[in-house]
Amino acid sequence: MKTITIAIDGFSSTGKSTLAKQLAKHLGYIYVDSGAMYRAITLFAMENGYITKEYFDVDSLNNSLEFIKLHFEFNANLGFAEMYLNDRNVEKEIRTIEVSNFVSKVAEISQVRAKLVEQQQAMGKDKGVVMDGRDIGTVVFPNAELKIFMTASSETRAQRRFDELQAKGDAVSYEAVLKNVQERDYIDTHREDSPLVKSDDAIEIDNSYLNKQEQFDAVLELVEEVMNS
Ligand code: DC
Repeated sequence: MKTITIAIDGFSSTGKSTLAKQLAKHLGYIYVDSGAMYRAITLFAMENGYITKEYFDVDSLNNSLEFIKLHFEFNANLGFAEMYLNDRNVEKEIRTIEVSNFVSKVAEISQVRAKLVEQQQAMGKDKGVVMDGRDIGTVVFPNAELKIFMTASSETRAQRRFDELQAKGDAVSYEAVLKNVQERDYIDTHREDSPLVKSDDAIEIDNSYLNKQEQFDAVLELVEEVMNS
């Protein structure tokens, strides 16, 4: 069986990371959450006062990029790799609604994208990787053997994210989450550098009415087809 690269792209909260983690575990592949890297840079920008509701000091962020060190560390208890920003575990902090509100702005910056794409390509150089994000099949791994593009209605996605945040004790309204999902969809699909688009050779999966197991089974079939071809 061939060792392959699996690229999973799609809108926010379509369950990309759930699927990617399931696949990586099943195949013994490395899972990389590229969104976590954009979120960690966003947290850095927030903590340094470069981005607030009122302004965004893009130059200062760009000038700081060389001092930002990102790495993933596998947590055996959780079964996936956690995000570290300058050697600090930021896995929890990067998932808040505050970071979600700013991350699409940060992800528009070409210097940020160039830095992260380079790191992502290095992580996948030996294949055997499942990476999820917005530009994985189009920019990071245009030659990936399997590309999946995931969609679901914005209401379904907002409900999923809302349930997740509530379970973590994050006091946020469904309306605020829906607004965030819709705003991020807009920015992610309209930005100049590497907008979210379905690659021609990606297979689209609308999981509005699929449960996790059904989705996993459907994609695993595709994976096995590619590996055996
Ligand atoms: O997958 P996520 O919701 O954690 O991603 C957070 C944000 O990062 C998302 O709004 C867009 C951006 N992103 C990106 O531009 N390119 C990627 N490959 C991954 C994420």
